[in-house]
Amino acid sequence: MAIEQTLSIIKPNAVAKNAIGAILSRFEAAGLRIVAARMLHMSKEQASAFYGIHQGKPFFDELVDFMTSGPVMVQVLEGEDAVAKNRDIMGATNPANAAPGTIRADFADSFTENAAHGSDAVDTAAVEIAFFFPEGVCPRTR
Ligand code: TYD
Repeated sequence: MAIEQTLSIIKPNAVAKNAIGAILSRFEAAGLRIVAARMLHMSKEQASAFYGIHQGKPFFDELVDFMTSGPVMVQVLEGEDAVAKNRDIMGATNPANAAPGTIRADFADSFTENAAHGSDAVDTAAVEIAFFFPEGVCPRTR
C-alpha cells in the first residue's frame, strides 16, 4: 500500500459541536498523521469554488450556505491508503447510510450537514490540498 495524502475538512456543524479534538483523535488512532492544518471561515466564493463540480445541482446552494455558516477545520492527513482510510472513518455521504461508529454516524445532522469532508481520490486530493495549502504542507513531521 502506498503512503498517500488526503484533504479532510471538519465542517461547521461539527466545529459548532466542539468536536474538533474528538474527530482528529479518530484519524490519529487509525494511524493517519496530520501534516498541515488551518482553521478558517470560508467565503461564498471559496466554498463555491471548492465544490465547483456540484454547481447547478439541486443541493448546491444549501451546501454553500452550510459550508459558510461558521468556521471549518481543514487538515491534510498522511498515511498508508490515506484516501480510502479517511473515507472509511467518515462513513457514507448520506449519514442515514453511515456505519455505526463513523464520524458521519456520530456527528452529522443531515445529508448536507454531514460533519466531514474527505477527498475521493489521490488526484482530487492533490487539487484540494493545493486549494487550501498553496504554500505546501509540512515537509517532515517525524
Ligand atoms: P459528494 O461530493 O457527492 O460527497 P462526499 O462529500 O462524500 O465526497 O457531495 C458533497 C457534499 O454535498 C456532501 O458531503 C453533502 C452534500 N450533498 C447533499 O447535500 N445532497 C446530496 O444529494 C449530495 C449527493 C451531496
